[in-house]
Amino acid sequence: MAISNSVRTSSSVGLAAALALICATRIVSADDIVGRPPAGRDLTIGEGAFRHLQALQDIAVASGGNRAAGTVGYDRSAQYVAERLKEAGYAVRLEEFEFPFFEEKSPPVLIASRPDGAREPAPSDAVRTLANSGSSDAEARLHAVNLGLTAAPPAASASGCEAADFQAFERGAVALIRRGTCQFQVKVDNAVAAGAVGVVIMNEGTENRTDAFSGVLSKGAAIPVVGVSYEFGRSLATGAGGTVRLAVNAVQGTRSTRNVVADTGSDDKGPLIVVGAHLDSVPEGPGMNDNGSGSAAVLEAALRLAQEPARGRMRFAFWGAEERGLIGSRHHVASLSEDERRQIAVYVNLDMVGSPNFARFVRSSAATPEGLAAVVRNEFIADFRAHDLPFEQRTGGRFGSDDASFSQKGIATVGLYTGASAQKPESEAKLFGGTSGRPYDPCYHRACDTTANISREALEQNTRALVRALRATIASHPQGTSVPATIDLPGPKQ
Ligand code: BES
Ligand code: ZN
Repeated sequence: MAISNSVRTSSSVGLAAALALICATRIVSADDIVGRPPAGRDLTIGEGAFRHLQALQDIAVASGGNRAAGTVGYDRSAQYVAERLKEAGYAVRLEEFEFPFFEEKSPPVLIASRPDGAREPAPSDAVRTLANSGSSDAEARLHAVNLGLTAAPPAASASGCEAADFQAFERGAVALIRRGTCQFQVKVDNAVAAGAVGVVIMNEGTENRTDAFSGVLSKGAAIPVVGVSYEFGRSLATGAGGTVRLAVNAVQGTRSTRNVVADTGSDDKGPLIVVGAHLDSVPEGPGMNDNGSGSAAVLEAALRLAQEPARGRMRFAFWGAEERGLIGSRHHVASLSEDERRQIAVYVNLDMVGSPNFARFVRSSAATPEGLAAVVRNEFIADFRAHDLPFEQRTGGRFGSDDASFSQKGIATVGLYTGASAQKPESEAKLFGGTSGRPYDPCYHRACDTTANISREALEQNTRALVRALRATIASHPQGTSVPATIDLPGPKQ
């Protein structure tokens, strides 16, 4: 009796606490957390951007430590941004969409058992669950899939990209696959078709692809899928013939989230410039560099341009669920009509512009951009030059950010970024300063991605370049005039 009473008491206390938390998170708005900005102070561009970043950090701290899609931390981030844009006079809309929600309940477990009975658990920093993995706890034989580990140094891998890679696969085994060439989802779908009960993807072993990595399965899986370091993958491969215990404990579901989209009120029929940054973080941390920094820069640019007389036709977009596979920006592009898509002269992306060990990268989808994409790219460069700041241009390559959603639909993109988890090479340390052989951002996708992980210098320089480039696009197509003849917008064949 006493026992059941005490159980009842503690569970009702737990329920009350949970209800209080739910009510508190519903009622406490972004502005309650952030407070009003100090009045009557003229902030520099850098101070303005950093103020937004601080607000996003305060929101994360008050919301369980992150701003991931589907959480109250994201909802409040969206509220903060939408309020500032509305106050500045923009027509703001929230673009709702659904996405596959995924939350891990406990860390993954991976333990190898050798044929001689020796057991080797993966070190906790050597294994990570892929988002949208299935959940189970199974012990099965481990089967390596076309790993190609003989080359030294390791060469690129296409392990598991073809159904034929699984010809000799034993149904009911766990597949050991190497990262590379095709999407994780393709490898996992092939493994499932071959009867795998779990998948371990080892990192590729090529430059900057050695550690345990996080990834997203775009469609998800019913079996557990984890990523491991190249080193641990090798040790699994050499212990062939044994079994592994692989356990993932997570919930999968569907949630809705939103993009915040603000348009200038102009009835200008000229080309549309879309400027965007993803506003969601990973669940592991507050996401200040990835991508509070880009969000803060785009918001500050929007607020500054709102105070100037000629604003051109611009759209400022804050994407949701980028970290779940570019879902918000894909949704936006897919929801536009063919005609609306054709009116977009350039998409400008800011993702990670405050890396502590920063570089300055100007990225464009075309090696030689045209029209307003060229204007934006050239003005980024001109602004860096005007301030004696070195930069490098990048085009092509692997890059998982929202600009891909636009370039896949044939829209020209230009962007700024300062580097993620890759190590800064010696040549760049000479050019930009900072430390070679260390990541641009050591806190990429980690809990330590706080405002202490931000270079305020890099944030300011990139925000300033963005403001200049956007002003220049307005100057190059004054309001009320049609598209300049030099701009070649793709249109229907005559
Ligand atoms: N901010 C990164 C993209 C990025 C990478 C920007 C390197 C600048 C330099 C983005 O949030 C991210 O984490 N992307 C994922 C893929 C995405 C589809 C989940 C990535 O790059 O692995
Ligand atoms: Zn990210």
